[in-house]
Amino acid sequence: KTVSILGVAFSGGQAKGGVENGPQTLAEFGLHQQLRDLDWNVTVDARCQDLTHLQPLSDPDIGKLKKPRYVSAVCEYLANVVEEHAKRGELVLTIGGDHSLAMGTLGGTTRAHPDLCVIWVDAHADINTPLTTDSGNLHGCPLAFLLGLEGTDLPEFSWLSPCLTPDRLVYIGLRDVDQGEKRILKQLGIKAFSMTEVDRYGIGQVVEMALDHVNPNRDRPIHLSYDVDGLDPSVAPATGTPVRGGLTFREGHYICERLHETGLLCAMDVMEVNPALAHGDIHQLTQTVAVGCSLVRSALGETLL
Ligand code: ARG
Ligand code: MN
Ligand code: MN
Ligand code: MN
Repeated sequence: KTVSILGVAFSGGQAKGGVENGPQTLAEFGLHQQLRDLDWNVTVDARCQDLTHLQPLSDPDIGKLKKPRYVSAVCEYLANVVEEHAKRGELVLTIGGDHSLAMGTLGGTTRAHPDLCVIWVDAHADINTPLTTDSGNLHGCPLAFLLGLEGTDLPEFSWLSPCLTPDRLVYIGLRDVDQGEKRILKQLGIKAFSMTEVDRYGIGQVVEMALDHVNPNRDRPIHLSYDVDGLDPSVAPATGTPVRGGLTFREGHYICERLHETGLLCAMDVMEVNPALAHGDIHQLTQTVAVGCSLVRSALGETLL
């Protein structure tokens, strides 16, 4: 079994600098060796480590969208790299970088596994369209583009065609969903387990219900897209858009452990680790980076016993 690790140094989907250094920081913490220690054959693909050459000289807003051409170019490139690894049957591990990169990761994995399902762990729904977004930050929009929602059919994103259907997407951990996003989730009937459902049913039942919804016969490959802000800020403080009331350390890891157990995991994203937002507090930094690594280890088979 081979895992290909793609570190993507990119922050163009939002305004805060530093998130481009997430991949390097996890690598320095020893992520690659940790996965070898779990008996994985580890391939490091360095092609996405520096994509600054893809930044256009001029990139004016499109409507509200910020840096649309840069985000698009990086995600198009990433999608091709991801596709290549996924088609070889490797587990594709992408370390961000901000969550706009999911257009690239899912753009790529869905070409290799057209029937895959997505488990999206996040405080946010990241399903704003160019028409509903308030911030204009594309890290709040990747799912709208992947689903091909209204307003996403832009010439600048012509490489990305709708590759996901609402029934194959499920959320865990939501607690900061914009009004327009709530309308979209309702309209499309997208299944979401917010922190309310985690409180009500417990994480064990929530993950089973999530799997039953997107993967009733347990035959679809699973792409886990994990925004570390799904975790409570006390667990993962160094991230750009923290929201209190999130997943505990154990709840966050249980999701990964259970998905490993299915044997269906084909890709994982770990997004929005921003070392610069530890505010010089080495403890906050180490804690966030360590939790990023341990989530991956759990998803790749580390067990407590
Ligand atoms: N909903 C807000 C927006 O669209 C916040 C999105 C945060 N996304 C993230 N990947 N952290 O701007
Ligand atoms: Mn988020
Ligand atoms: Mn908000
Ligand atoms: Mn996100």
